[in-house]
Amino acid sequence: MTISRRQVLLIGGLGVLGAGAAMFPTGSVEAKSASRLSDKEMPRPFQADFVQAPFLGPYAKGIDPVDGLPVNYYKVTEQAATARILPRLTTPILGYNGIFPGPTISLDQGTKAVLRVRNQLPAQHALDGHALSTSTHLHGSASLPQYDGYASDITHPGFFKDYHYPNFQPARTLWYHDHGVHFTAMNAYSGLAAQYHMHDPIERQLLPQGRYDVALTINDVMFASDGSLGYDDNTHSGLWGDVILVNGKPWPVMKVQKRVYRFRVLNASISRSLRPTLSTGDPLVVVGTDGGLMPTSQSVASYRHGGAERYEILIDFRNYKTGQRVELRNLSNKNNVDYDYTNKIMAFDVTDEAVDTTDPTWNRIPTTLTGSEAMTLKSSQAVKTRTFRVKRSDSTNLWTINDDSWQHVIASGYKKVAADPALNSVELWEIENKSGGWFHPVHIHLVDFQILSRNGQAPYPHERGPKDVVYVGEDEKVRLLMKFTPHPGLYMMHCHNLPHEDHDMMVQFRVGLKESDPDVNDPMTAAKAEWDDTKE
Ligand code: C2O
Repeated sequence: MTISRRQVLLIGGLGVLGAGAAMFPTGSVEAKSASRLSDKEMPRPFQADFVQAPFLGPYAKGIDPVDGLPVNYYKVTEQAATARILPRLTTPILGYNGIFPGPTISLDQGTKAVLRVRNQLPAQHALDGHALSTSTHLHGSASLPQYDGYASDITHPGFFKDYHYPNFQPARTLWYHDHGVHFTAMNAYSGLAAQYHMHDPIERQLLPQGRYDVALTINDVMFASDGSLGYDDNTHSGLWGDVILVNGKPWPVMKVQKRVYRFRVLNASISRSLRPTLSTGDPLVVVGTDGGLMPTSQSVASYRHGGAERYEILIDFRNYKTGQRVELRNLSNKNNVDYDYTNKIMAFDVTDEAVDTTDPTWNRIPTTLTGSEAMTLKSSQAVKTRTFRVKRSDSTNLWTINDDSWQHVIASGYKKVAADPALNSVELWEIENKSGGWFHPVHIHLVDFQILSRNGQAPYPHERGPKDVVYVGEDEKVRLLMKFTPHPGLYMMHCHNLPHEDHDMMVQFRVGLKESDPDVNDPMTAAKAEWDDTKE
């Protein structure tokens, strides 16, 4: 292995790196380790037991007097805590209810939710002293702007905010995570991320449920020598950790029965992308994308999985032998930094535990799934085409979208927009990454979109479903089709490599309103955080 300047910088990790290190990676590179743990404390693959985050039940239920729909009331408290990630050392985290990942919310389409997020964090982050004011985004939900985790709509420590979620969309895997302006990366990395599952009758009928419907929240981290999390975003280029966590445990092992399982795979890494594959050479069957079920399932040997994307996959363990170990591996992608064990994610140990063969999903690999509004859109419906170029600015070194950034939005008093689609209109958005050396998972709030093409070709099989994040790799241009519905107002669009988002690759668009129109859903003023005087 030849050591490049970049690798030297990375191996030197965990510190603030020198100036001039701005333009990094070109190819995928390999390095030894990013963590500063001693050999004895360093975790190794397949030593930890697989766990899942607990479900969060509602503390109250009610009826919305306006439309008669049921409402579940939930509460989470953002707090500093310690996690057991390593075999011996403890790791300080920030977590919803003090755990990482935070508790999973699970409900049915048609049940609304009010999530009270209590900010009981310390005033400052232990790593860099930034103020721990937060904004919570339910990623995958068409929420009103004032409940959408608008980055600058922050809740300070000691306050809470009630977020209202409509849950009218088709079944899907969502996640809630911090979106606080300019510090999303470190806050999410420190633990403020969790899954949220919405069910509907079609999905319940087609796919495994209950203990066979398994959340996998994957992220990469690096550790300092005392077991605390290290943080090095390489001058805002990205953070590449050497330890892969699944649901907060390093490379865990899960015991499975000889049946079909459903996995809700969320890449919660702040920068790294994955390419999951099975050690057996058998396919992964992709059944769901960010916006829920795909029209038809897709069998793939591996697939590219960027930050914030959710893929639901089926793995068929029926034909494996008792005692067999099946590894979920990571083949990685261009423009990542890989370490000795980042080629592994987790493992499954096949048991002879009796399978319930009366459950129709135990051996079912459905091919036809279900349509969705996004997937039935036609290019001919588009009333407008817009092009967005994502790149790092040569002059300011900031990441930008069409040379714009969130700084400009703030400076304009939250008025400046990058697009102004009409309510219920269909538009075709092109996103182009010509800068070289980088991939950008671009997230558009509010909408589910269909990927029409990538560099003029059909999208990859695994992304032929409704999406809200699109992987825009080096030298790629993607074309997306979307309908701006059902709410007017201001919504964000940004890179989900979170150090990019924070510095400052985020813009906003305004749906269905003119700049001078009054906006009853103004994200900065329509629903404010309140002082929290509850005693627990
Ligand atoms: Cu997952 Cu705007 O974020």
